[in-house]
Amino acid sequence: MRSPLPDRAVSHPSSRIADLHAHVGTTVTVRGWVTHVRSSGKVAFVVMRDGSGILQCVLVKSQVPAEVWERFAALTLETSLAVTGEVRADARAPGGHELGVVDLVIVGASPLDYPIQPKEHGIDFLLDNRHLWLRSPRQAAIMRIRHEIEQAVHDFFYARDFTRCDTPILTGAIGERAGLFATEYFDEGMAYLAQTGQLYGEALAAALGRIYTFGPTFRAEKSKTRRHLTEFWMIEPEMAWYDSNDNMQLQQEFVQYLVGRVLERKAEELKLLERDTTMLEKVTGDFIRLDYSDAITLINGKGSTTTWGEDLGAEDEALIVADYDRPVFVMNYPKQAKAFYMKENPADTRTVLCDDLLAPEGYGEIIGGSQREDDYDRLLGRIHEEGLPVDEYGWYLDLRKYGTFTHSGFGLGLERTIGWICGLHHIREVIAFPRMMHRLRP
Ligand code: 4AD
Ligand code: MG
Repeated sequence: MRSPLPDRAVSHPSSRIADLHAHVGTTVTVRGWVTHVRSSGKVAFVVMRDGSGILQCVLVKSQVPAEVWERFAALTLETSLAVTGEVRADARAPGGHELGVVDLVIVGASPLDYPIQPKEHGIDFLLDNRHLWLRSPRQAAIMRIRHEIEQAVHDFFYARDFTRCDTPILTGAIGERAGLFATEYFDEGMAYLAQTGQLYGEALAAALGRIYTFGPTFRAEKSKTRRHLTEFWMIEPEMAWYDSNDNMQLQQEFVQYLVGRVLERKAEELKLLERDTTMLEKVTGDFIRLDYSDAITLINGKGSTTTWGEDLGAEDEALIVADYDRPVFVMNYPKQAKAFYMKENPADTRTVLCDDLLAPEGYGEIIGGSQREDDYDRLLGRIHEEGLPVDEYGWYLDLRKYGTFTHSGFGLGLERTIGWICGLHHIREVIAFPRMMHRLRP
């Protein structure tokens, strides 16, 4: 196999396809991978991609050296190559340019058994070949939207003077109820992969006021649903002096900003995904706020058998959002359905000051948030009630012992949010290498 062409071997300036507009009328070299070839015998076309765009290259047999014409014949799907030619503006060509080829060099051949062919493949086959499947336009579009959302997350919080903090992935204490991944940690006993950065985020909020974390989180849940991964990315802001109401206001602005950014800057990718954006465009006004008890009445009226006290299931969430054309907050769940750290609701002590944000179109929970219990004794009581190891939570209780403070925060699941914005059925496609109950490779 030949190694990729070093820059100095190229006699013409090289260009990315996305930058060709600056080179119209000049001769450049473009490097990438073959997506399509066809030939009439006298004129041949190579469509290539380089990650920045796609480009049609035209070879005229009578105008190129015989060996260049022969190399064309050897091109197969995903061959990597360097093509040199004159850039011509052509409104009909994909990307608006065409390359009039004078030279073509094969960098790396691609045998004919390339697994991903232009036909229907089963999802397991595609996931087994995820390292190659990522090269397809649809998958690349999803990765670009993911990138836009990640950048938008940072821009949103930077503009509001939040400090980004990184919290540990190996933890001693635990956060949420769902399954834990554990590993032995030297002489310190068990270490757990973080399910959340929140508890550390609370300590940081007392130091910095407003913070957010953005990192991978892990849940060893045996859930084989279309919205569960065992490794997913979460954005967790934590704000000193915010109550539950302030918290929801921030969530609303945050989600509106993320959706707006994708609509504004990734229209082409949304189109490629055939995403109907009508509902996304409505994510502008105030979101619906529904009390948990009212949500129960609503879903019971629609046939759900979930009773007061239970957490809402995916079907329940779908029944709720079906009535609305924008995201819905379900607020103030019963204590027993939620985590120990949520603040007791003074207006109804059976419940806690929390919210789940449900995305429209049946996508369900994308955010879980709450005001945090700031009373030392009540928090200790909840830790006992849940049978949690009190010693592990000593440092967390200290936050209530030394200058307790009203504070709130939330966690937005990155993959669920992308799945909704892209209009995808399953979140396994929104992360480059998904980790699920039955999938650890590639
Ligand atoms: O509701 P969760 O469990 O809340 C927390 O972890 C809190 N500590 C957040 C906080 O207040 N700082 O998870 C938050 C979000 C969910 O709404 C969902 O979007 C996502 O994380 N999520 C998952 N995404 C993919 N796969 C899973 N298994 C997920 N579990 C939760
Ligand atoms: Mg939740």
